[in-house]
Amino acid sequence: MTVLVEHYVSDSRIEEKKTKEERGDGGFMVPKSKETDEFDAPDINFLGHSFRDYENGESERQQGVEEFYRMQHIHQTYDFVKDMRKEYGKLNKMEMSIWECCELLNNVVDESDPDLDEPQIQHLLQTAEAIRKDYPNEDWLHLTALIHDLGKVLLLPEFGGLPQWAVVGDTFPVGCTFDPANIHHKYFKENPDNNTPKYNTKNGVYSEGCGLDNVLMSWGHDDYMYLVAKENGATLPHAGLFIIRYHSFYPLHKAGTYTHLMNDEDREDLKWLHVFNKYDLYSKSKVHVDVEQVKPYYISLINKYFPAKLKW
Ligand SMILES: [Fe+2]
Ligand SMILES: [Fe+2]
Repeated sequence: MTVLVEHYVSDSRIEEKKTKEERGDGGFMVPKSKETDEFDAPDINFLGHSFRDYENGESERQQGVEEFYRMQHIHQTYDFVKDMRKEYGKLNKMEMSIWECCELLNNVVDESDPDLDEPQIQHLLQTAEAIRKDYPNEDWLHLTALIHDLGKVLLLPEFGGLPQWAVVGDTFPVGCTFDPANIHHKYFKENPDNNTPKYNTKNGVYSEGCGLDNVLMSWGHDDYMYLVAKENGATLPHAGLFIIRYHSFYPLHKAGTYTHLMNDEDREDLKWLHVFNKYDLYSKSKVHVDVEQVKPYYISLINKYFPAKLKW
């Protein structure tokens, strides 16, 4: 069975559609800076659709993105998030290893994108391998990259087959006012929380500097995978869990908003999220990773940081 994933991403990541010449290879490139061999993110915005060649499809795509965010912004309320965390916090959907989940996610193919029609495991391994090259000693970061999108299994029927707006897209805090930096902010007008006094102030139900651990985020693959990792006793460093939980929190790590809710630990972890994020965005490549060749390395990391079987 195949489940289609569409990359609904913020305008901040897609509006600067570049020509083939500008982006070099007609697909995706991983440029290197001249002085160092370190990864150097291109000055373009990218994820999924942004590199596609659309023949008259651009306005249709825009409409699809808008409709996605309209649905997301209407339905992601404080109560919805609490219900989702309660339901999925039971971890009673499946038992499997991390690697088995990587293989399961392979059933989720992004067929909406002709430039990036690789199975999801390729995105995971490409991200992980690119980071591994530049940060060879941070094995926890390699593993974090491998597993960061596993929460997308929420789209599969075995996991409730959640709608796209409850799985992917940018994330944001609920329970406080929706910052204007959020993509397609206007659609929050239809969110019931927007007209609820306890939720529609700057701090809402939170307090200044309370720490993101105490903040509810819109529900999606980030928070789900965080729950799975934490509740199964993963021994990843805190920064690894932070990356998993907030990698779609673009209003924070790209726009720099919601920082008033952070504490000192969040600010430390955010540095690693900034490192991770450029690989997540830019490692999507036509370069195929030989799964069998790298598998032993990642299995060793999984054994180091996770139990053999996890509850999902
Ligand atoms: Fe993701
Ligand atoms: Fe990703």
